[in-house]
Amino acid sequence: MPKHRTDQEVALQGSMRAVTRIKTKGKPKIGVDEFMALCGRFGFAKPTLNKIRKIVLEADWGEGPFFANYYSGLKESSVQAFERVAREVFGARHSIGTSSGSGALHAACVAAGVGPGTEVICPAIGFFATANAVDLAGGKPVFCDVDESLHMDPAKIESLINERTAAIAPTHVMGGVCDMDRIMKIANRHSLRVIEDCAQSCGAQYKGRYVGTIGDLGIFSISCYKITGAGEGGLLLARDRRLWERASQVVECGGLWRPSRFAPPRYPGELFTGTNYRMSELEATLDVVQLKKLPQTVQRFRTVKRHILDRLRPFREITPQICNEPEGEVGYLLRFFPETIELGERIVEGLRAQKIDASMRGKNAPPDWHCYAYMYPLAVKYGFKRGDCPVADDLFDRVINVPLNQWYSAVDCRTVAGRINAVLSACCTPGPNGRACN
Ligand SMILES: Cc1ncc(COP(=O)(O)O)c(C=O)c1O
Repeated sequence: MPKHRTDQEVALQGSMRAVTRIKTKGKPKIGVDEFMALCGRFGFAKPTLNKIRKIVLEADWGEGPFFANYYSGLKESSVQAFERVAREVFGARHSIGTSSGSGALHAACVAAGVGPGTEVICPAIGFFATANAVDLAGGKPVFCDVDESLHMDPAKIESLINERTAAIAPTHVMGGVCDMDRIMKIANRHSLRVIEDCAQSCGAQYKGRYVGTIGDLGIFSISCYKITGAGEGGLLLARDRRLWERASQVVECGGLWRPSRFAPPRYPGELFTGTNYRMSELEATLDVVQLKKLPQTVQRFRTVKRHILDRLRPFREITPQICNEPEGEVGYLLRFFPETIELGERIVEGLRAQKIDASMRGKNAPPDWHCYAYMYPLAVKYGFKRGDCPVADDLFDRVINVPLNQWYSAVDCRTVAGRINAVLSACCTPGPNGRACN
């Protein structure tokens, strides 16, 4: 144990280690059984588990691991390593590992000064968590309609700005990227904070910069549903130290982030109430590995999408999704708009018959928290309803989604593109007006 630790810190490490040192060797609090439970969760078969158990039973477990961020006994805990790797991968100055993307969003909102009497401009298509975090911080979400990129339409932002507006919170949707130049220009003109929600586009870039590092704050979900993530986790990136300190205060209730954690405020406004959104050491251990793989993962998705796009033919009744940054998006989804929902239904049916996993919401689909009008806790509270953002209403129901697999070979890509062309040829008119994406 390093010598510089205070008595209080030693006490905080828990009595377990001390107890195991007194009479007998005892067993570590976290040992073979816990390790085997983890191996079981990985899904190994019984014979493999038996072999692993035999090996690890022979190992000297000492006091066992201590899964704490601050007092791990390591030079760098897994959470600290995750935060460092995040800074290195994204080229960010400040980072915080969190328990979820939702927690990171709440912390980002508070850091950005969102509170009672303020408003934040959120996209009509994204996910409930963004607007929810605004409300949780005491502010009011205001929804901005989208354009044919399915991202916040920069042309519609300024009419929503008033003296209460504190921030713009663009969401990079499903591997795509927002038109960040135009959004940043508007934010700078009106001195507004920008909170980028990158939960669905971890690893995407805009003009050579990773999303999440362009605005004042960037948040990510590092959960099992995202392209990077092992269970439940999140990440917050901050442009400057003051924003990082404010976000840390929310994540680390009680100022645990400070060098002298229990000391009174060092400057007015430093300390305020927060909660515990800390990332767990176990989660961080897996996420460090995941995050290091991110650039290769993104590259594979991009190559697959490019291969397919290059082979798609134009059809008059198909409008491609606008890509704000074709070179920068992650590209795990191919999206395009058929002229009508009826046509879309025929196309989806044809694609599925060809074993292409396509979907479209269509008419009378169940509510979905990725579109503003269905975010009921907020829609009811603030009176949002279908019709407020007509472009989102229309496109959300009509967009055809074709998920792509990063492991497709060049032959697979040719096959997928060929089948999409065949189905579109059967349902549409070949023509110069568009193709299934730009
Ligand atoms: C755009 C967006 N923001 C935030 C979140 C919330 O992330 P988490 O599930 O890690 O809380 C999600 C989750 O799907 C999301 O899609």
